[in-house]
Amino acid sequence: MHRALRLTEVRVENYRTRSFVFEDGLACQPGQFVMAWLPGVGEKPFSIAASNPLTLMVVAVGPVSEAFHQLQVGQRVWVRGPLGQGFRLKGRRALLAGGGYGVAPLLFLAQQARQQGMDVDVCIGARTAADVLLTEAFERLGVGVHVTTEDGSLGQTGLVTAATGKLIETLRPDALYACGPVRMLEALEKQARQAGVDCQLSWEAHMRCGMGLCGSCEMPASEGRLPGWLACLDGPVWRSDES
Ligand SMILES: Cc1cc2nc3c(=O)[nH]c(=O)nc-3n(C[C@H](O)[C@H](O)[C@H](O)COP(=O)(O)OP(=O)(O)OC[C@H]3O[C@@H](n4cnc5c(N)ncnc54)[C@H](O)[C@@H]3O)c2cc1C
Ligand code: FES
Repeated sequence: MHRALRLTEVRVENYRTRSFVFEDGLACQPGQFVMAWLPGVGEKPFSIAASNPLTLMVVAVGPVSEAFHQLQVGQRVWVRGPLGQGFRLKGRRALLAGGGYGVAPLLFLAQQARQQGMDVDVCIGARTAADVLLTEAFERLGVGVHVTTEDGSLGQTGLVTAATGKLIETLRPDALYACGPVRMLEALEKQARQAGVDCQLSWEAHMRCGMGLCGSCEMPASEGRLPGWLACLDGPVWRSDES
């Protein structure tokens, strides 16, 4: 069932990314997502960047996301959710790792973790300095921020795994929580497994119904995921301690 939610704020995060703040809150967990529908354009899944008020962060890459960027304060978006399984915080020390819009659900997770008194560090990976997202928002929460860029224009040069490898050793987090491109998640899963650290990974998949009906988000079986694993229903977050 869709709810029409009015926008109260649109924030520019970088040259192709905006955050959209709605009038109402949504009872949900970090890592869950909503399906956001723009009539006449289409419907796509978006991670929840904050729950109260509901906030989505959208990178303009195609028809739906670009139409989002045309929206003004006062206009409405049709939203259904929250959907899927989110992250579950464990222990006292959390290491977060995000690439691209993957930092959006991690901001919500960091907020919850800090409220519970946990120590939190985040590794933010991007192609260039211009693509880095949300560093100040994490710093305001009291989170340790570690940036990597592929071209070396900000922070450590390389992929996000360059930073997480060392931090897993030095911080010994109770779990690693990550969201981003598939290859990044595969590399992080390997790092965490080798270090004997639990990980919770939010997988990207092509979604249509968002509720376990169409099968379009079925993920290939892997070491931890059983055949028939649906990213919209069983995920998007997969937890190593449940496999
Ligand atoms: C669980 C889940 C959560 C998601 N959360 C977010 C979110 O918080 N914010 C967000 O912006 N998107 C998020 N997405 C992606 C979003 O659902 C859309 O896929 C995206 O907005 C593109 O849709 P579109 O119709 O604008 O363009 P499409 O026509 O679907 O895509 C246009 C082209 O851009 C490519 N593309 C898609 N995403 C990206 C990207 N991030 N960077 C570069 N190229 C890309 C596509 O492969 C395609 O080639 C999420 C997806 C899933 C499954
Ligand atoms: S999107 Fe339809 S089953 Fe997951």
